[in-house]
Amino acid sequence: MKERLKQMAAESAAAEVKDGDVVGLGTGSTAYYAVRALGRRVREEGLCIKAIPTSVDTRIHALEFGIPITTFEEFEQVDIAIDGADQVTPGLELIKGGGGALFREKVVACNAKRFIVVADESKLVDKLSMPVPVEVLPFAWRVAERALIKIGAKSVALRRGRGKVGPLITDNGNYLLDADFGEISGPEELEEEINRIVGVLENGLFSSALVSEVYLGTEKGVRRLRF
Ligand code: A5P
Repeated sequence: MKERLKQMAAESAAAEVKDGDVVGLGTGSTAYYAVRALGRRVREEGLCIKAIPTSVDTRIHALEFGIPITTFEEFEQVDIAIDGADQVTPGLELIKGGGGALFREKVVACNAKRFIVVADESKLVDKLSMPVPVEVLPFAWRVAERALIKIGAKSVALRRGRGKVGPLITDNGNYLLDADFGEISGPEELEEEINRIVGVLENGLFSSALVSEVYLGTEKGVRRLRF
């Protein structure tokens, strides 16, 4: 059932893409439906787009679906980016990075003219509260862990690779820490504070200033949230 809601949200966002657009492709199970829908539009409608994927995984899917790939070496910005989220507030603040791709996802979101977040309604929360994914240099992970505790994290966990021994390695060759701050009252301040820690590359708090709209798949159809 959740899958159907994710798919609805992702497909309505994919319908917003226009001929000639450079598109940022998100990562995760919801973004996957958008990538698949865009591939269908490329094949069936002859939609002409170029895409910048936010992970190796999404790059592989995009190529499989026949979507041409480009990079930020070729283009300054993407016209539209579509990506999922782990938590979304009514004020359009996000936590992302459950799938480990937050760094490239933030690069794309920060350089998108329009950023549409796609999710099923279970992702909507009053306050952000899940552990914040933090990408760190392997050399400095313990340093960053201690610093996160110092700024208020109740606990910090090194993300493990699925089914593998040892830490998960991101597409950028780094580690991920999941830092539990409980309910987050000032996400923008916390986002900046975390990024000031030496050894931290980026974190999964996305400020509402980056988000153009959220498309939420609900039982009654796609609900659009915007300011
Ligand atoms: C990937 O790093 C994440 O930011 C995903 O966008 C997020 O975890 C949502 O994933 P799902 O759509 O699979 O829930």
